[in-house]
Amino acid sequence: MPFTRAAALAEVPPGKPKQVTLDGRTIALFNVHGTIYAIDDACPHRGAPLSQGPMVGTEVLCPWHMARFDVTTGKYLTPPARSDVTSYKVQIVGDEIQVDV
Ligand code: FES
Repeated sequence: MPFTRAAALAEVPPGKPKQVTLDGRTIALFNVHGTIYAIDDACPHRGAPLSQGPMVGTEVLCPWHMARFDVTTGKYLTPPARSDVTSYKVQIVGDEIQVDV
């Protein structure tokens, strides 16, 4: 699947994640100091939307039970999650965020 438009760049300001649906997948977009990252928006513990969790640097906390994930890689950092979430390639074209789903 080629890169697909996910959002306008202005819709994902630093520290304010956005949830989008692409090709049937629910994906969270994060802006870390101007760089956009995309990961699956479902915590592997119980399915919480990671896009609604607070961010600290490159990490997001699951809003339900506070597992931490690295948004740049999708790797889980602390329990109760015990597995990573999928991370997607992102490209910026003009003012558009595109994700390779
Ligand atoms: S649903 Fe994310 S830690 Fe429980």
